This record gives sequence, C-alpha cells and structure tokens, in this order.
Amino acid sequence: MVNIDAAGHVTGRSLYLDDLPLLEGTLFAKIYDSPVAHGTVRRLDWSAAARVPGVVRIFSCKDIPGHNNIGGIIPDEPLLAEDTVIFAGQPLLLVVAENEDAAEAALKLIVTEIDPLPVITNPREAYAQGLLLCGSRHFEKGSVASAFATCAHVFEGRAETGGQEHLYLETHGAYAQPLEGDRIRVWSSTQGLRHVQETVAHLLGRGMHSVEVDVTRLGGGFGGKEDQAAMWAAMAALAVYHLHRPVKCVPHRMEDMRMSGKRNPYHCDYRIGLDADDRIVAFEATYYQNGGAAADLSPAIQERTLFHGTNTYGIEHVSLTTHSCRTNLPPNTAFRGFGGPQGMFMIEAAIDHAARALGMPVCDLQRRNLMTDGYEFSYGQVVQRCRAERCWEEAAETFRLETTRERVASFNEANTWQKKGLALMPICFGISFTNTMMNQARALIHIYWDGSVSVSTGAVEMGQGVNTKMLQAAAGALGIARNRIRLESTNTTRVANTSPSAASATADLNGRAVEEACRQLMARLRGVARILLGEGDDSEISIREERVYANGIATDLLWEALVRDAFMKRVNLSAKGHYATPEIHFDKTKEKGHPFAYHVYGTAITEVTVDCLRGTYVVDGVQVVHDFGSSINPLIDLGQCEGGIVQGIGWMTMEEVVYNEQGRLLSNALSTYKIPDIYSVPRTLDVRFLAPEPDPLAIQGSKAVGEPPLMYGIGAYFALRDAALAFNPKAVLPYSAPMTPEKVLMGLYQKQ
Ligand code: MTE
Ligand code: HPA
Ligand code: MOS
Repeated sequence: MVNIDAAGHVTGRSLYLDDLPLLEGTLFAKIYDSPVAHGTVRRLDWSAAARVPGVVRIFSCKDIPGHNNIGGIIPDEPLLAEDTVIFAGQPLLLVVAENEDAAEAALKLIVTEIDPLPVITNPREAYAQGLLLCGSRHFEKGSVASAFATCAHVFEGRAETGGQEHLYLETHGAYAQPLEGDRIRVWSSTQGLRHVQETVAHLLGRGMHSVEVDVTRLGGGFGGKEDQAAMWAAMAALAVYHLHRPVKCVPHRMEDMRMSGKRNPYHCDYRIGLDADDRIVAFEATYYQNGGAAADLSPAIQERTLFHGTNTYGIEHVSLTTHSCRTNLPPNTAFRGFGGPQGMFMIEAAIDHAARALGMPVCDLQRRNLMTDGYEFSYGQVVQRCRAERCWEEAAETFRLETTRERVASFNEANTWQKKGLALMPICFGISFTNTMMNQARALIHIYWDGSVSVSTGAVEMGQGVNTKMLQAAAGALGIARNRIRLESTNTTRVANTSPSAASATADLNGRAVEEACRQLMARLRGVARILLGEGDDSEISIREERVYANGIATDLLWEALVRDAFMKRVNLSAKGHYATPEIHFDKTKEKGHPFAYHVYGTAITEVTVDCLRGTYVVDGVQVVHDFGSSINPLIDLGQCEGGIVQGIGWMTMEEVVYNEQGRLLSNALSTYKIPDIYSVPRTLDVRFLAPEPDPLAIQGSKAVGEPPLMYGIGAYFALRDAALAFNPKAVLPYSAPMTPEKVLMGLYQKQ
C-alpha cells in the first residue's frame, strides 16, 4: 500500500504547522537568546526594543505565572534564563509583536551585559571537574578484572563520535490560541504531545486539562522534537496567557540550529580482551556523554548506550559505565538511535583496533563473535530468535562477500592513488522504550452511522508512515476498504497521556491499541449480525471486503447495512483501545531485567573509494540484509531503511557540529553544516528482506524499523578507514567520527 501522505506531499496539499490559516489578531513571538555560553547576567535592558512600533510586549522570567522549568526527566532547565546563562542560544527574553519584522527589529535593540564564567565544551573536562547532569550508570556481567588477566591479547584505546544536527525540513514551531474559560489550544510540531501539554500547564500553574495540544504531522522530527518542542510551545502559551490573543512562535532555520540541542557527542575509553582463538572474552568501556547544559533526555540516552554497548557480539565479561557530563552547550537530545549508535561505534572501534593489531581481517573477528540464541546481555535479557548470524550469512552469500573482498584487493593492487575499502556492520537494536512505563498507547475509533470510520491514536506522523500503518491495521481488523477510514490529527483531548512517537515503537504500540479498539467494535457488530442473519450463538461471523461471512460463507449483509442496523439497535459504535507491551520489565537498582519486547537484526556491507591525493571519497555501495519480521508495508519500511542509512552515513562522514572554545556554534547554517544530498547517496543501495518471520510482539509481525538502519551508516566510517590504511598502513586515523575528507587527507600524510 502506498503511503497515504504521498499525493499530498508531492502536490503541496499536506498541511504543516506553518500552513495553518492565520487567526484574526495573531501575534508573532521571537526569542532573544544568550550570546554567551556561560555567565552572570548583570544587565538586561529592553527599553529601546519595547518602543519599536508594532512591539506589543517583551516577557522575561518574571512573567511566568507557574514554574520556570521545562526539563522532562529532571527539572533543571529554565524556560527563560534568570541570573545566569548556561549556554549560547539560551532564551532570555520573549519579544511579541504584531508582525515578525517588528519583533526582529526589537531583538537588535536589546542590550545585555553578561559577566563571563568559565566555558566547558568537552565532556572529559566536565567529568574531571565533577560536572554531571545525573547519576552515572553501570552495567556488568561476569568479571572483567579476572577475565582480562587470562586473555591472550588485550587492547585499549579511545574513540569518539561527534554531534548531529537534526535538520528536519520543518523547523520547530508552535501556534497557541486562547480558548474560553482559561483554556489554551496549542498546535505544535512535536513528537511528544503529553510533554508539551504538561510543560505548558506547569509553566502556567494550571492543570493539564486546561491545555489542548494538536498535531497534524511533522516535516521530520528524528528525535529533535521528542522533548525540545515543548520550549516553543511554552513560549507561545506564555504570551497567550498574558495577551489573550493567538501567538505564533516559529524560528528561522539559523535560530533553530543555534537554540536546539543535537545528538550527544561521546568520548570513550575502551579495553577489549581476546583469547588465543580470537574470541572476545572481555569488554570494558567508559563513556563520557556530552549532555550540554541541562539534562533534557540525556539520562535516558546514556542508558540506551549501555544497552547497545556490545552491539551484536556475545561477550561473557562486560563492564560498561556512562557519565552524563554537563557542558555549556545547548542541551543535547534524542536523535535516531538514542545513544545506541554511539555505543555501537565504540565497540566497532575496539574490534577494528584488535583485528588490525593482530593482522586479521576485521570482518573475520566480527563474524567469529556474533551472539547466538541463549546469550545473556549485560542487562540480563536472554537472546531469543537471534538473527545475527543469519543476517550476516545471508548478506555474505547474497552479495558475494568473498568475491567483493577479492575485487577490492585487486583494485587496490592495481591502483596507486585510488583505494577501495570494505566494512561489515552487523546491528542489533532493542525495541521498546527503555523506561518500561512508557510502553503504552491508546486509540479512539468512531464508526459513523454511514459506515465511515475515524481513527485517532497517540501516534505522530513525521514522515515515517505511521498513519498509513494505522490505517492498514484498522482496515484489516474491521474487514473494510481503506478509503472508508480517516486518520485524525493527534490530539490530547481524544487520546490522552501519550508517549512520544519515538523509540521506533510507535506503530507497535499504537497499532496494537487500534487493533484492541477494533476487536471491541467487531464483537459488538458480530452480535448484531447474528441477530440479523438469524444465526445461532456458535456461528462464526467475520467481515471481509465489507461483506459479512457466517461460518466462512458469504451472506448478503454488507458493512453499511450492518452499521446502520447496529446504530438503530443503540449499539455503541465508538471504542477506546489500550495496549501495554507485555513481558517487559527492568530493575534499575540491579540494572537487570527484560527491557525489550524483541531485537531487530541486520548486516550491511559497505564499499567506498577514496581519492588518496585529495582525501575525497564516494560510497560505492551499501548492501543490506535486514530483519523486517513480516513487513506490514514493505515500501514504507524500505524507505525507512534507505533514509536511515543515508542519515547514518551523514553522521559518520560529513556532518560536523562545531562549537568554538567560547561555546558558540560555528556550523550554524547550511553553508557550514553539510548533510548528505542526492549526490552523496551510495551509488548502490540494496536492501534485502530477511525471509519473513513475524515477531509475536510486533504489529502484525512487522518489526519496528524507524531507527535500526541508521546504524548501518557506521560501516561507512570503517570502510573509509580501511581504504585509507590500504594507501598508507601508517596513516594516523584515531577513532574519531565523522571521517571528513579533511581528516582522511591529514591522516594519510601526517608524520608519526
Ligand atoms: N522518518 C522520517 N521520515 N522522519 C522522521 O522524523 N524519525 C525517526 C524514524 N524515522 C523519522 C523517521 C525516529 S528518531 C524514530 S524514533 C522513528 O522514526 C519514530 O517513528 P516510529 O516509531 O513510527 O518508527
Ligand atoms: N528511545 C527513544 N526515546 C525515548 C526512550 C527510548 O528508549 N526513552 C525515553 N525516550
Ligand atoms: Mo527517535 S530518537 O526515538 O525520536
């Protein structure tokens, strides 16, 4: 089935927040943000700004009627700074005007004097000074200390990954409207409606019932709008509270880039131990997460780093520790993979290190150590239905890995200035929010008495195709045509207490809730059908293609007639479904449990060619065997794979978030921050489906697909390193992503 949004997107008819027709009397809000990363605010003077014609009012922290904090996990981040600023880009004032031009003119007239305080941008430095955002975490299995003593080979080193700007096509934004009786409606570009709703309520000192949040769709979120959308909504709502007029707060691209957090950069110290048979016996890692100036989602992100610290490898002795470090950068946040990719990069670096030191092909060491059924992760969950080896073997066979290896080797022999590199990237990603409580969802379904159907869920459509999947789930469960069903906007008054659309779990959670609501409706409709058909109690009634079947035999009763009759009989044609993932649990005091409903597997083979004179490169191909379960929508799922892979390659190769020592973002526009375009997409991008094997806890057996493919992109880093070392085995290439052309070139020719 084609994505239901496809036609709207290509014809420009799909509506985003900025397309909402302006309400009469709408005002525009602009944020005045701190120009310095750390300091004491001595003077903040907006008197001249307030006199700009069109400016209605300028708000500071003193105007907040409720609580001035917006942190989702830890309430440590003020909406508007008070007497200290902790990152450049931190909001200080909110200017509200009749139009954007007036608001922007006013921003230029605000005068600040801020006494500078020391700025820290490096997480190791923050750690050394004891600056942490929350408690450190530690996962342990076996005993690394005694295991290392028995190892034939032990290698240790450092690795690091950089940040990543979300660069959703649609920036952040919110549009708030006063409703009668002190209520406020907020249209928000958010993945997490509940967080927006409770942040606004908390800020205004009101109950959540006085705030309605509505989302039609996002032009991308990628984790950046999981929690951080709340800030923009809170700003708009604050102005509505005081001015009783509709207020729109939508940043320009550079404002969005400057004020919002990004993927957490990580530093890591690792130690890996192998026995004489090249089995990885022990792995130890300490991760220094760059959290930025406030906790945001970093405490949860560090947890997922631990869950994925050993990727797909079966290692008996494991010790992993994370420190969430407080720096003077915008609070970093969720980004596709949620700390998992960072953890996986580190163990791949350690394996690359070990294999090269031992003079063996990296992929042989990886293959030898893939986990199998019955392996117990450091967090206590036992691997079931493991597909690590199957994906690897199928990729090796389908894409003729041996032939590719030979071809790359002979290419490198024949060419002096061009070198090819090859890398394999196996993945294993846990599906479920790591916070068990969040694994719940609801759906509300109305069957109108003409037979058409309205479906509301807690899912947010952000390009990943979840609405199409919801529609498929409802159509399948009710046995009716898809064009009878409409997906409504996501709204807190119809579906309450939503978890964010995140963790790749949106379709699983909300789809199951849709199925549950449909089950209730079907039970009622079957009762009506029995009466209409004069069938006995034990006859089996089903609906297929809009027709009622009794004991598998087609009847003359059609959907519309059945629904009309049910209504005449005063049968309830609305239902609410609730789903909570069964079986999962996790005990944080022991750091053990069974946190994931299931794992997703796959293997990617990446081939690159480096121009060793210039340091430039192309990604020739990424060939993947991916475990989709039994895909509910192969076209959408393939799109998720392709998009995720390209985004992962971008993170690993060209996207470089750069702050200077004063904590100012230098890569603050599309001229200085490069994301992959169509020309940097691999020449070959071939994703094959592992033979379908439905997972019982996935929606209709279709495994979650949103985040896992991003991690195939890590293969591009190691393939580039492989190519560079083919040119100069002594090239200086520390494990530091992204592998930009500059780094390749400098590394190739650096004297040791
Ligand atoms: N795909 C598109 N087109 N746009 C997005 O913003 N977000 C990703 C992924 N794929 C995203 C996307 C992220 S970070 C997640 S967690 C999942 O989609 C969320 O949706 P799902 O749970 O329905 O997979
Ligand atoms: N993944 C993504 N987002 C989240 C998670 C998670 O595990 N936990 C809280 N937000
Ligand atoms: Mo995705 S990082 O879980 O929004």
